[in-house]
Amino acid sequence: MRTYKIAAIPADGIGPEVIDAGSEVLSVLAQRAGDVRFDMTWFDWGSAYYKKNGVMMPEDGLEQLKPFDAIYFGAVGAPDVPDHITLWGLRLPICQGFDQYANVRPTKIIPGVTSPLRNVGVGDLDWVIVRENSEGEYSGHGGRAHRGMPEEVGTEVAIFTRVGVTRIMRYAFKLAQSRPRKFLTVVTKSNAQRFGMVMWDEIAAEVAQEFPDVTWDKMLVDAMTVRMVKNPQSLDTIVATNLHADILSDLAGALAGSLGVAPTANIDPERRFPSMFEPIHGSAFDITGKGIANPVATFWTASQMLDHLGEHDASARLMRAVEKVCADGILTPDVGGNATTKEVTEAVCDAIRGDN
Ligand code: NAI
Ligand code: MG
Repeated sequence: MRTYKIAAIPADGIGPEVIDAGSEVLSVLAQRAGDVRFDMTWFDWGSAYYKKNGVMMPEDGLEQLKPFDAIYFGAVGAPDVPDHITLWGLRLPICQGFDQYANVRPTKIIPGVTSPLRNVGVGDLDWVIVRENSEGEYSGHGGRAHRGMPEEVGTEVAIFTRVGVTRIMRYAFKLAQSRPRKFLTVVTKSNAQRFGMVMWDEIAAEVAQEFPDVTWDKMLVDAMTVRMVKNPQSLDTIVATNLHADILSDLAGALAGSLGVAPTANIDPERRFPSMFEPIHGSAFDITGKGIANPVATFWTASQMLDHLGEHDASARLMRAVEKVCADGILTPDVGGNATTKEVTEAVCDAIRGDN
């Protein structure tokens, strides 16, 4: 029996709804496989915890998470707590404290889900966005002076290091190499930003020499949004900075049909620490408690988690089940259906049980 210790942090809004669904699916996958166990430990960290304790997680939170094989995360954000507190209090300390420097965001059009792009269907949009997840624009470097005064100044400094850029570039080239098209697009803004971004381009060209079988090209981030919309077939693996990839992957999620289907993995490729798996979306106040949150993103990220743990059969089985259920039209309202979270979850569990 292979046992994996999973830390579940459902946190806020629809987070608990989708992580509950995900944990149910994981336990059915384990039953189906017979030789795998997922040992889930639940953490009540998040905005409710913050309102009680003044912090999003306990001071030794990272120490508590360290022994786990992976972290399964819902979403943070509450209407009555400022977003920079929820984000910097929980999700970012985990990403940064565990040096999860590769944020991997696959997007494709799932059968049964309609892209808002005309004439774009299954197979036309199949991307993986690799987001630098440890530095760049989200380094947390900056400050404010003369607060509240007319002469107030705020700085937000983007930090790019040779080590940081080289390791994400290598990760992205390797990932591109593992995909059938072996094609990578490197995104920057090196026309307007002359230092860090030009260094990105230079390091990309250096790392490219280690991967002679990978074809690659460069895009400026603004032009990239146009290419994603007008010519999605022309892209495959994409690497971009923390901020750029944050924005591009929301666009990617929307183009693939809904944020509700878009997953993300925060990976420590060196496996010194647990990696964290989550849906891209936030806590979605507008639908919290209605029972209609789309659990597909949370299932898909569980499949990324299984791949990371080396459980490739279970990962593939989960994705087959998700695709079957979506193709059968069992969809939540965000993707044009009228099924509930529970109905989609039950259907996926049934498909796993019936999968050969
Ligand atoms: P959001 O992702 O929560 O919601 C945007 C829109 O997409 C809403 O209309 C929502 O109903 C819909 N949506 C999102 N996930 C869905 C799902 N699974 N099924 C069906 N519909 C879904 O983004 P928003 O509204 O900008 O932010 C709400 C809160 O979430 C804020 O506090 C924000 O800071 C936080 N947030 C947290 C993230 C995280 O924990 N990683 C990521 C993004 C936002
Ligand atoms: Mg985002």
